[in-house]
Amino acid sequence: MSVTSVVGTQWGDEGKGKVVDLMARQADVIVRFQGGNNAGHTVIVNGDKFELHLIPSGILYPEKKSVMGGGMVVNPQALLEEIDALKERNISFDNFYISDTAHLVLPYHMVLDRLEEEMRGSEKLGTTSRGIGPAYVDKAARRGLRMGDLLHRERLAGRLKAALNYHNHILEKAFNQKGFSYQEAFNSLWEAGRRLAPYITNTALLLDRWREEGQHIFFEGAQGTLLDIDHGSYPYVTSSTTVAGGVCHGAGLGPGRIDQVIGVTKAYMTRVGEGPFPTEDKGKEGKRLREEGHEYGVTTGRPRRCGWLDLPLLRHACRVNGINFLALTKIDVLSGHPEIKVATGYMVEGEEFMEMPTDTDLLGRCEPAYDSLPGWEEDISQIKNFDDLPENARKYIDYIEKKMGLPIKLIGVGPERNQVIVRGDL
Ligand code: GDP
Ligand code: IMO
Ligand code: MG
Repeated sequence: MSVTSVVGTQWGDEGKGKVVDLMARQADVIVRFQGGNNAGHTVIVNGDKFELHLIPSGILYPEKKSVMGGGMVVNPQALLEEIDALKERNISFDNFYISDTAHLVLPYHMVLDRLEEEMRGSEKLGTTSRGIGPAYVDKAARRGLRMGDLLHRERLAGRLKAALNYHNHILEKAFNQKGFSYQEAFNSLWEAGRRLAPYITNTALLLDRWREEGQHIFFEGAQGTLLDIDHGSYPYVTSSTTVAGGVCHGAGLGPGRIDQVIGVTKAYMTRVGEGPFPTEDKGKEGKRLREEGHEYGVTTGRPRRCGWLDLPLLRHACRVNGINFLALTKIDVLSGHPEIKVATGYMVEGEEFMEMPTDTDLLGRCEPAYDSLPGWEEDISQIKNFDDLPENARKYIDYIEKKMGLPIKLIGVGPERNQVIVRGDL
């Protein structure tokens, strides 16, 4: 029996989907515990590309259970579209479960996301405009609607009326916008609820039962540590707990139940949206990483900002998640770069920092100090064994392991499910 959590150590898009898909072979249950359709997880199986936003990557295995946990915020229309698109590709939903306590993302959340970004002007966050922040605000403000509400017509009507009273007031009076019609909103929500009802249940209870039975449970993190509401570069973060601790309240599992945490790290770094990025390369190396790594957002299509691996940020991620081992993805993208840079610390106004400053303004002023490692020319995308990698690729991996004091047990050498080097026991 084991419970494993897979989390991103950077600003998202580390390749979590692929790592979860790979590790899911050993799992019985795959669970998302936070976030919503701001996430975009890519899995490629025999040339077929799947882009998942809400549904756990485990759905691609028909015999495994897929669970959307209570810490998520779910747009019911977006979920139905994702289900329909996957069903069209013959993906089975026989083992699919949605927590009755997951909150709903509703159309006014998406409008508010956009209006709030406009109001921020030059201070905008660069959100995915999926209504994620406003939905978590409603959850904390105790006016949110939950999946379980979709099962009860009268209750849904009452809660939606109360929420719309509030939101239409804000939209009309504060933003001078048109409000939403209650009847239209109710009809479409009730209809969506009818279709989702068979999947809605108490997933925390099921997870505990499955764990007791000795089933292997895998938690699929969305976003990354540096986007965590508390441990990320606030305010340039998402609105949920993306670190491993989020599994406990997001899925309803005690902290002692988690056996291991896998941190997914891209061999370089990317960021979509605004906020500090000390090792960002705005020149030709960054551009090359973007083109060769196909660094364009899965959710919004925005070009990702690219730069070099940053050890103080990775150290922070390893610490706050309690990571047991790392999965290093996209090292194949570094092939052909004569020099690979890695930030080892920062200088700010003559002072040296070896750890990520919690002050985001300070992080924005950090000038990285780099180590420079020699690159390699060879295409490594078909390599299956660590020992067959070019010497300088092995040195790069050894270097990161040594600096982090953690093993790198998975090495991604291409986007396909089987393009990976596995080292030792997972
Ligand atoms: P996630 O949000 O962390 O699941 O990551 P995304 O799916 O948004 O972005 C990762 C991208 O890298 C996807 O296009 C993957 O297909 C791709 N990818 C994952 N691992 C590797 C790898 O080892 N090498 C290469 N070249 N691409 C990879
Ligand atoms: P996956 O799971 C990369 C970023 C947005 C923005 C900030 C806040 O694919 O790694 P939000 O819409 O969440 O309020 O936006 O967070 N962001 C992501 N960046 N990958 C993601 O998910 C992201 N989800 C949110 O770009 O900067
Ligand atoms: Mg992504």
